Amino acid sequence: MRAVDIIEKKKHGHELNRAEIEFLIRGYVSGTVPDYQASAFLMACCFQPLTPKETADLTEVMRTSGDTIDLDGIKGYTVDKHSTGGVGDKTTLVLGPLVAACGVVVAKMSGRGLGHTGGTLDKLDAVEGMRTDLSEQEMAKIVNQVGVAVCGQTGNIVPADKKLYALRDVTATVEDTALIAASIMSKKLAIANQGLILDVKTGRGAFMKTLDASIALAQRMVEIGTLMGRDVMALVTDMDLPLGKSIGNALEVRESLMTLQGKGEADLVELCAELGSRLLVMAGKASSVEDGRKQILRAIEDGSGLKKLEEMVVAQGGSLKSLHNQKIAANTVEVLSVTNGYVASMDALSFGHAAMKLGAGRETKEEKIDLEVGIEVHKKTGDSVKAGESLATVYYNRADRLEEVKSQILGSYTFSASKVAKPPIILAEVTKDSVFKF
Ligand code: URA
Repeated sequence: MRAVDIIEKKKHGHELNRAEIEFLIRGYVSGTVPDYQASAFLMACCFQPLTPKETADLTEVMRTSGDTIDLDGIKGYTVDKHSTGGVGDKTTLVLGPLVAACGVVVAKMSGRGLGHTGGTLDKLDAVEGMRTDLSEQEMAKIVNQVGVAVCGQTGNIVPADKKLYALRDVTATVEDTALIAASIMSKKLAIANQGLILDVKTGRGAFMKTLDASIALAQRMVEIGTLMGRDVMALVTDMDLPLGKSIGNALEVRESLMTLQGKGEADLVELCAELGSRLLVMAGKASSVEDGRKQILRAIEDGSGLKKLEEMVVAQGGSLKSLHNQKIAANTVEVLSVTNGYVASMDALSFGHAAMKLGAGRETKEEKIDLEVGIEVHKKTGDSVKAGESLATVYYNRADRLEEVKSQILGSYTFSASKVAKPPIILAEVTKDSVFKF
C-alpha cells in the first residue's frame, strides 16, 4: 500500500476502506507517513467529504491509536457529557453533581480552554488543592464513592488526534464536519462510558455558526457513537450569547455554586435540566424527559447537587473553603449603556475574546492564565436597559488592554427601542432516529 495511491483515490471521491485509513493514520502517528501526505489527505477530505462509513472507520482508528480507558472498576451505568465549546460554559461543574445526586454515575474527562472557549480543568484550578491528574484507579475509587469525578486526559489518549489537530490547524482543514466529528468522538469514545450527551453549540461564539451546520455535526457524532454501541444523543444549543452571567475561571466557579444553591441564571438552569434529564432517561433513572427534569430541579432545590460538588472537591483533594471563597480580582470597571431600550443582540465571541485579553483564557497552549479575572454580564438579549446602567462588570488585574476590552464588550451589543423576545437556549434535539427543531 502507498499513501499517494490512497490520497489519489480520495481525491477522486472514491470511498476508502478501513485498511487504507488505518495505513494512513497509523503511518502518520508512527512517522512513516510524512506531514505533507497527511496534509494532502486532510485537504482531499474537505473537498470529497468522508462518507459515514469512512468517518466511523477514521474515528475508530484514531480512538485506538493510544490508550483507552475501560472504566472496569466503576459500578453502574456511566455517563458523560461533551460540549463543543462556548463562552461562559460552566455546565459540567453544575450538571455533573446534579446528575450524580440523581443516582447516575458520571466519569468525566475534561480539557483545558483554548482561544475564546474556556475549559473545565482551568475552572477547577481555581479551587485550591483540587487535583485533576487522577489515575484510572483513583478516578474509579472517587466515582464509586461519590458518584462523580472530573479529571484531565491521562496517559497517551488518542495521540492521532493530537498530531492531526495540530496539522489541521495550520493547513486550513479544521472546519470540516466529518473531521471535527471524528476528532471529538475518538476522544469521547476512548473512555468506555455507556451514555453520552453532546451539547453542540451554535451561533457567534461557537465553532458552527448556523443551526443547520450544527445539526449536521450532531448527526455525524450521534451516528458514530451509535455505530460503536453507545447510547448517544445531542442537543443543539445557543451560543450567540454567553452562557449564564460570568466568563472567567473563579467567576464561573462562583456562578456554578450559586446555581447549585438555587440562585442560577435561567439559561444555565434550563440547559442543565435539559441535558441532565436526558442522561437520567438514558440510564433508566427517569421514566421521561419531564420526570428527569423534575429530578434535576429537585436536586438543586434540596441542595443534594451542591453536596455532591462538595464531596467531589474534597475527594479530589480540593479545599471547601477555597471552593466557597473564590479569589476574584479586586479591580473592577463597569461597561455602561449609552442607550435606553432593549438589548437586541450580543456577540458571545467578542465576550470570549475580551475575557482572553484580560488573561482569563489563552491564545496558545503554553500561556498561563489568570484565574481571578473575567466579566460578569448584567444585560443580555431581551433585557431592558437605561442609559448609564451597567451592561457588564470587568474584573481585572492588568489595566494595559482595559480600554480595548471595554469597547469590545460595548461594541458587541446592539439595541432596539422596542421590546425584544429572549432567545431560546435549546434549539434542536438529535437522536439516532430523529432531528427535532424546537
Ligand atoms: N474540538 C475537537 O476536539 N476537535 C475538532 O476538530 C474541533 C473541536
